[in-house]
Formats: sequence, C-alpha cells, structure tokens
Amino acid sequence: MSTARGEFSSRFGFLMATSGSAIGLGNIWGFPTNAASNGGAAFLFTYLLLAFSLAYPALMAELIIGRHTRANAVSALRQLATGPVSKKVGTGVGLAGLLTVSLILSFYSIIGGWMVSWMLEAITSLLGLDAAALWFATDAVPRNSLFVLVFMALTIYVVSAGVRDGIEKWSTRLMPALVVLLLLLILYVFTLEGATEGLRAYLVPDFSRVASPGLIVSALGQAFFSLSLGVGTMLIYGSYLSSEENLPLTGSMVSMLDTGFSFLAGLLIIPAIYVALANGVQIYDDSGALVAGPGLIVSLLPSLFDSMGMVGALVALAFFALMVIASLTSSISMLEVPVAYTVETFKTQRSRAAIVIGSTVTVVSLILVFNFATLFDFVVTLTTEYSQPLLGFFFAIFVGWIWNRNEVLKELQKGYAGAEHSLFWKIWPFYISVVCPLAILAVYVQLIFF
Ligand code: TRP
Repeated sequence: MSTARGEFSSRFGFLMATSGSAIGLGNIWGFPTNAASNGGAAFLFTYLLLAFSLAYPALMAELIIGRHTRANAVSALRQLATGPVSKKVGTGVGLAGLLTVSLILSFYSIIGGWMVSWMLEAITSLLGLDAAALWFATDAVPRNSLFVLVFMALTIYVVSAGVRDGIEKWSTRLMPALVVLLLLLILYVFTLEGATEGLRAYLVPDFSRVASPGLIVSALGQAFFSLSLGVGTMLIYGSYLSSEENLPLTGSMVSMLDTGFSFLAGLLIIPAIYVALANGVQIYDDSGALVAGPGLIVSLLPSLFDSMGMVGALVALAFFALMVIASLTSSISMLEVPVAYTVETFKTQRSRAAIVIGSTVTVVSLILVFNFATLFDFVVTLTTEYSQPLLGFFFAIFVGWIWNRNEVLKELQKGYAGAEHSLFWKIWPFYISVVCPLAILAVYVQLIFF
C-alpha cells in the first residue's frame, strides 16, 4: 500500500520535504512580526520554550500516526479509533484540520503573492523599468489579487503535476542560500546605527511581559504554525515516510532547523526595526501596535535594501526569489491535505482535486484581499491561535489515550532499534498524554479568565 501511495526515497528527501513545509513565511514573516508586536525577547523566549516543550512532541504525534496508518488525517484517526465516539471525534478533528489548513492557505497565498510581486519589483528596477517597479511595490487590491492568482496557480500546478521532487531538489540547494543571505544581511544591519539597541530588545527579555496571556497564545499559535501542526500536514508527510527511518531523530532535526530559521529572521528584523526607528521612521503607533501590521517586513526590508545602494536591487531579488520558493514548499504541503483526502476517499483524479480545491481556496483568498482590514487578522488569529493548538490537543489525546501504547512503541521501533530504552520513550508518552493536553488547555483557560 505504501508503494502505491508513494514514499520518500531517502531520509534526506523526507527531511527536505518536511523542513520545506515547516520553513516558510511563518519563519520570516510571521515570527518577526509577532516578536515585534509582543516585546521582542519576551516573545522569543516563550516561543522557544513552547516550540520544544509542546510543538515538538505534537509533531512526533502526527508523524507517528501518519507513518503507522499510511493515510490522510481523517482515515488515520478513524483507523485509530476504538469505538463509535472516538470514530466520530476522529472524523471531526480530521475534517476540521482540513478546513483550517484551507483557510490558512487562503491568507498564506496573499503574503506569498507579496513575495512574488516584490521579486518582480527587484527585476524591473534592475532593468530600469521604474513605472512597473512602482506598481509592483505599491500595496493595492488589483496587485494583490493578481499575485494571489499567480501564487495559487503555482501551488496548484505543483500539487497536481506531482513535480514535488523537482521543488524539493531546488529547495535543497536554495535553502542553504537563504541561510547565507540572512547571515550576510544580519551582518550588514549590525553596522547600522540603532542595531545594538535592537539586539538588546531581541535578546534581553523583560520577564514581566512573559506572563501576559496574549503573548503566550501568540507564541503557542506561532509554534504550531511554524511546524505546520494540527491540520494533518505533518501526518500526511509522515505517511509517505519509510519505516526504516528513526522518527524522533528526524522530527528533532526538523524542529531545530525550523526554529533556527525563525531565530535568524528575528536577528535580522528586530534590529532592522531599531535602525528604522533611529532614522525617524514610525514603526509603532501610540498604543504600541505596529503601524505596518502584517505588512511589516515588506515595508522594512525594501528600505533596508535601498540603503545598500547598487547591490541593493540584486540582494532584494535574491531574497524575494528565495522567499517565493520557501513559501511554495509550504503552500504545497497545505493543499496536499485536502487533495490527499479527496483522492483517497472519493478516488478523484489528483489533478482534478487540486484544481477544484485550489480554485475554491483562491476565491476565499480574493475575499480576504478585498476585505483585508476587517478579515485578515481575524482569519489568522482564528486558524493559528485557536484552531491549530486545539486540534493539536486532540491529536495528543488520540496518541496518548486512544491508541494502544504498545502499538505506538512498535511503530517507533521500526527504524529505531532499542527505542524502548531511549530517553524519548521515557519522557514522551507521559508528555503527550498528560503534559501537552493540560498545557494547551491551560493557555486557553488563562486567556478566558484573566
Ligand atoms: N509552517 C509553514 C511556515 O512556517 C506554513 C505551513 C505549511 C503550515 N503547512 C502548514 C501552517 C500547515 C499551518 C498548517 O511558513
């Protein structure tokens, strides 16, 4: 069965695909924007804590379920269910995940579209086509609608044609390039006035802010978003993974790569904010909210590139081109969730499923573009801060309480001889059944009552 569904040919391929899903706009756009709105270092530390204590165990839950059941989330959870109630809950969680990820894709494609448009801005400025460059750089409904269409078309094309291999090969080469580029940009920012203060804001936490409920929920949402959790993406990728792989090891590599990317992006953006402040640019309004809101990085980075003189346009081109690739390897992992479900459940042709579902998501994206001010933040908060962690809660319950623990161990032992004596097995089962669900609930209880 696994062969018919397709399988990653190597650990490296899986690692690249899974990191490709994890690393994307969440790291370079979401994390720095969140950190900038939530007190910098206080956010970074809460985020790091939650990423390793809650998101990594939840990632393991999804990967193990996926590899064991070799199915999409809905069928997978139904397969693990032991009675009519858990079967219903499983179906509900699977379908809610599918809906959540489709909504996530609808806002993700808007930001992905911005990356395409800024990439074209860099190309047209290099060619001296100033009018075109200005059009690509100006935030407007027609521009944003056009690039939602372009970004979704690319996503649909990759998912329907199954040219994922090609994309993965590219991103294998291009992701290291993105790291190098980020490092160079960080070095450049550090030479500018105001950067040291930014570095302090990013690394020295004001612990009085850590306790604020808004901050913890944002950090939890960010951690789940960045690792693509709760919606069945990682479950699907786990279902394509060969039984010879060591799951806890692979999972921890993905978590570390993903967190590393976010950390680096923050190291660039937060000091860049302070450089802009030192230059008299208004970043925060009187209430302390970001003036640019979700547009922070596309208002901040282009002016940083401009300050570099001649090379600036080349750097911008490289940066936005790499961002387009990074967002595509994430968006295809989103569209894959409803497509895999439809193909496996209704035996629909893959390309037809990708086109129909992708077009529906595009329509929702366009609605968001036309009602950006009222709907965008609402959909982001609803899906990433509420839906994802709460669905993660149910995945934890399925692995921790419904699935027989010996079966879980058996799955883990494939590709990991001696798993039963490992530190992972000493900690994780208790963790996923008790600590994760309670901690996720605690965050919401705190939010509701304080
Ligand atoms: N994790 C990706 C990022 O950081 C986005 C992503 C891909 C995602 N698949 C997902 C987010 C599924 C939520 C759910 O950009």
